[in-house]
Amino acid sequence: MDGNGRWAKLQGAARIFGHQNGVTSVKDTVEAAAELGIKYLTLYAFSTENWNRPGDEVSALMELLVKTIHAETPTLNKNNIRLLTIGDTNSLPEKCIKQLKEAMADTAKNTGLSLVLALSYSGKWEIIDAIKQLAQETKSGKLDPKDITEALFESKLSTKGIPNPELMIRTSGEHRISNFLLWQLAYAEFYFTDVLWPDFRKEHFYQAIINYQQRERRFGKTGEQIKQNA
Ligand code: IPE
Ligand code: MG
Repeated sequence: MDGNGRWAKLQGAARIFGHQNGVTSVKDTVEAAAELGIKYLTLYAFSTENWNRPGDEVSALMELLVKTIHAETPTLNKNNIRLLTIGDTNSLPEKCIKQLKEAMADTAKNTGLSLVLALSYSGKWEIIDAIKQLAQETKSGKLDPKDITEALFESKLSTKGIPNPELMIRTSGEHRISNFLLWQLAYAEFYFTDVLWPDFRKEHFYQAIINYQQRERRFGKTGEQIKQNA
């Protein structure tokens, strides 16, 4: 979700005004995903690197997170949406941790869309964290290095149990991965749009999905092989 700051600047407003308006885009996109029957939607809300932003912007973002989660939990329940998080959430302010725990418990039984918030998340952090767990198990004699498989590695990531994304959408005209789901995006389709996040609405989400549907996913195979198995 990129472009909040630039959107605010275009209105002559402070960056936080962009973040506040980005919440409307989150609500619209989550609703669209639930309506379409999508099973998982992951939003990159706050990266490990975002901690380096000015202190007042970081606190404003955390306040906005608490406020939004609190206000939107009834709507999540109404729409059968389950809330999950990935990332180093223990490093978030106490108030955020508490609000997230509450909302996750309140929505745990929902069976529709799983809404995954990436908070204090980065792909490199997550990979190192998984390696630490495997190293610890090896050191204690519980694990033999030759038994390390892709599946075992994936079970140590914070996305454990969440399928790998099929489509990655990046807004605001940037063409970077910015430390997002480095392992999990191995075979994802990428979609880039110039739309700034606060302007992003259902129609833009549909455009991304229609574009995705026109692609041929080969997973290293030939086009002919894919057509034969279809
Ligand atoms: C993304 O918008 C939102 C968060 C990181 C929370 P930015 O704040 O990165 O907006 P730009 O890139 O400055 O326009
Ligand atoms: Mg940005």
